[in-house]
Amino acid sequence: MSTIEQMPVDTEPGGGDKIPLIELKHVGKQYGNIIALQDINLRVKAGEVTGVLGDNGAGKSTLIKIMAGLHQQSEGELLVDGEALTFGSPKEALSKGIATVYQDLAVVSLMPVWRNFFLGQELRKGPLKTLDANGMRATTMSELSKMGIELPDVDAPIGSLSGGQRQCVAIARAIFFGARVLILDEPTAALGVKQSGMVLRYISAAKEQGFGVVFITHNPHHAYMVGDHFVLLNRGRQKLDCTYDEISLEELTQQMAGGDELEALTHELRR
Ligand SMILES: Nc1ncnc2c1ncn2[C@@H]1O[C@H](COP(=O)(O)OP(=O)(O)OP(=O)(O)O)[C@@H](O)[C@H]1O
Ligand SMILES: [Mg+2]
Repeated sequence: MSTIEQMPVDTEPGGGDKIPLIELKHVGKQYGNIIALQDINLRVKAGEVTGVLGDNGAGKSTLIKIMAGLHQQSEGELLVDGEALTFGSPKEALSKGIATVYQDLAVVSLMPVWRNFFLGQELRKGPLKTLDANGMRATTMSELSKMGIELPDVDAPIGSLSGGQRQCVAIARAIFFGARVLILDEPTAALGVKQSGMVLRYISAAKEQGFGVVFITHNPHHAYMVGDHFVLLNRGRQKLDCTYDEISLEELTQQMAGGDELEALTHELRR
């Protein structure tokens, strides 16, 4: 089990020419006759946030499912640390340090925060292997505060936390259990401004600590606040692939909105 301190960190500004943690080369995916993805090229580097944007049905979830080991690509290559491989299961992806936090967080609402943090991977002690509740409480508290989250009470049921806090607990948990790459599927979609801010701060902290983050979102403002690199999907194709320096928020928003389509719609509605 690796914690933040033990993790080999690769934080050269901009990621340099270092081997990406994950690389997709000409990746495509078909579901029967449906082409969900076509010729996708992507690099996820340590200490960088890759923003993946796209409208409904653009292929965002399909893309993360391939990286998370839930689905396999129909074409192209998936490289992890420069090595081409195929994941047979999410467990294999996890063993390479690739953790996915899905939008519908699998938490047990009535259980305390610390129980959820260790769910399925409980600490035990003594010859009878009884649950080490105090150890788990203390670790949960220290792991959360390491990333700047101060919860008044880790004994509170996780269901009593705000949406933003729950997202942060899920991310802290992934990090504690050895993630190097965090794939976050629309972590801010259901959140208001303040709650989103909490999650965005957290994403930024994870990046500063050298994690590779894949941040899926509909929201160009959120992507632009923390992203180093942006990929825009449109009906399974990569419409944009650029760095922060290469694009303004206005351009990103315009591209995301479909550019000409949005202008035409504005024209139509304002007539
Ligand atoms: N298991 C599946 N079987 C068949 N078609 C699928 C499957 N999963 C996704 N698709 C199709 O692939 C395309 C891309 O879907 P995907 O869920 O990846 O999009 P998305 O960008 O995540 O959309 P959303 O914003 O709505 O979550 C869609 O046309 C979708 O209907
Ligand atoms: Mg989706």
